[in-house]
Amino acid sequence: MSPMGTLQNIILIGFMGSGKTTTGKELAKLLNRPFLDLDEFIEEACGMKIAKIFKEGGEHFFRKKESQAIDLLESKKNSVISTGGGVWQNEENRSKLLRMGLCVWLKVSPEKALKRIEANLSQRPLLAASENPLQTMTGLLMERETDYSKAHVIVVTNDKNPKQVAEEIAAIINLDGPFDLRSMQK
Ligand code: S3P
Repeated sequence: MSPMGTLQNIILIGFMGSGKTTTGKELAKLLNRPFLDLDEFIEEACGMKIAKIFKEGGEHFFRKKESQAIDLLESKKNSVISTGGGVWQNEENRSKLLRMGLCVWLKVSPEKALKRIEANLSQRPLLAASENPLQTMTGLLMERETDYSKAHVIVVTNDKNPKQVAEEIAAIINLDGPFDLRSMQK
């Protein structure tokens, strides 16, 4: 059993292209825990891809679905959960996620993030229509960074692959022993 205990979730937060989903899968495999992706959960619940949800209902509707998804997952235990890049901006979502488990911010530069996602920008509604995706990402990241930094733990992912990032998170958990999330609330 990991010294962290078996009940807490590990929740990956951060910008598009930070590697939350790929790292989450690696980490779940490494720790032998179930993996759950919040965006996939929403897509299944709505029967539509994220891009279509934005197109049909707009961003406001999608944000409502994100908050509802967190409520539905609040009793989850022992899982690795990756989240969409904007879910953390809502204060209520953030405090629920901070209570649900150890929140890890996968920090990435806009340049690296763009490299990772440029092949499928059409699936990212916030970037799809941008004439200058790097500029859009840089601005969005600047707006969000203060909130992202409220995570329990920060791991820089720039020059690492998902397996390396997963191993780094696993090592942090093992080094620090059981986390007392109450004392880590900000
Ligand atoms: C969003 C990020 C996306 C997805 C949606 C909105 C955001 O998830 O939830 O397009 O606001 O940053 P990823 O971070 O997994 O790309």
